[in-house]
Amino acid sequence: MTASEFDYIRRLVLEQSAIVLEDDKQYLAESRLWPLARREGFDSIGSLVVRLLANKFDGLHRKVVEAMTTNETSFFRDFHPFEALRKSILPELILKRAASKELNIWSAACSSGQEPYSLVMLLQEDFPILADWSIRLIASELSADMLARAREGRYTQLEVNRGLPARLLVKYFRQYGTDWEINETLRSKVEFQIMNLADYWPPLPPMDIILMRNVLIYFGVETKKKILGRARQALKPDGFLFLGGAETTFNLDDAFERVQFDRTICYRVRKA
Ligand SMILES: C[S@@+](CC[C@H](N)C(=O)[O-])C[C@H]1O[C@@H](n2cnc3c(N)ncnc32)[C@H](O)[C@@H]1O
Repeated sequence: MTASEFDYIRRLVLEQSAIVLEDDKQYLAESRLWPLARREGFDSIGSLVVRLLANKFDGLHRKVVEAMTTNETSFFRDFHPFEALRKSILPELILKRAASKELNIWSAACSSGQEPYSLVMLLQEDFPILADWSIRLIASELSADMLARAREGRYTQLEVNRGLPARLLVKYFRQYGTDWEINETLRSKVEFQIMNLADYWPPLPPMDIILMRNVLIYFGVETKKKILGRARQALKPDGFLFLGGAETTFNLDDAFERVQFDRTICYRVRKA
């Protein structure tokens, strides 16, 4: 891949997803785009770029952008945030919302869906009291391919081996050849939608909990600030925001304050 082809790719990816590809990511771009180029019938990344340049944004541009996203995820990823939800945050919110019996939770940038399904299993297992509540669990993602996988709720043996307790696998999934599919009752509790965090946000209900984990790391500072500001607006005044372990609101949006729960931290809007 030439320097000018890489420049074109990173401009496209930045415009469409806000993901910043630093200079040292050329190798990554090559390793992700070469299989895509071959699958699409091109004999080199160069000829793929020529085709991209010749046309307005279409399905091929989208595939290139999606190929440059990192979709790493797992069930109950990092464990401790889910423990904080189970032991502290959900019990607190359940008391506070006892009158309205409503809770809104958003898994932003949900990749292939393990995060929202972990949340559904947590609610189902530990909070039977919520059975007659109105719970909205929204899961959004930039990549249409990832969102389709998330909607389908079907995972390989390797994926269910990562973070999902065997007891929950047996209880909520059924085997489908060598894959495992989450049951329809749980799947129907998640509202999936396509959404670019750096672009227009569709109307969302005021959120009690937002998980926006391991996605801000891919963006530049101004995009992080803009997205954190909008996440703050999307949260109820006493709601909670979770970021990934390598992410923070510090120096980006200081209207948030850190709250520590055992071995995890999350963020809340600072009281005026
Ligand atoms: C590393 S995964 C994190 C998945 C999950 N949140 C977790 O922590 O396990 C990052 C996800 O962010 C998505 N993503 C990247 N840019 C995005 C954007 N501008 N808007 C929404 N999602 C985006 C990617 O497609 C990818 O699935």
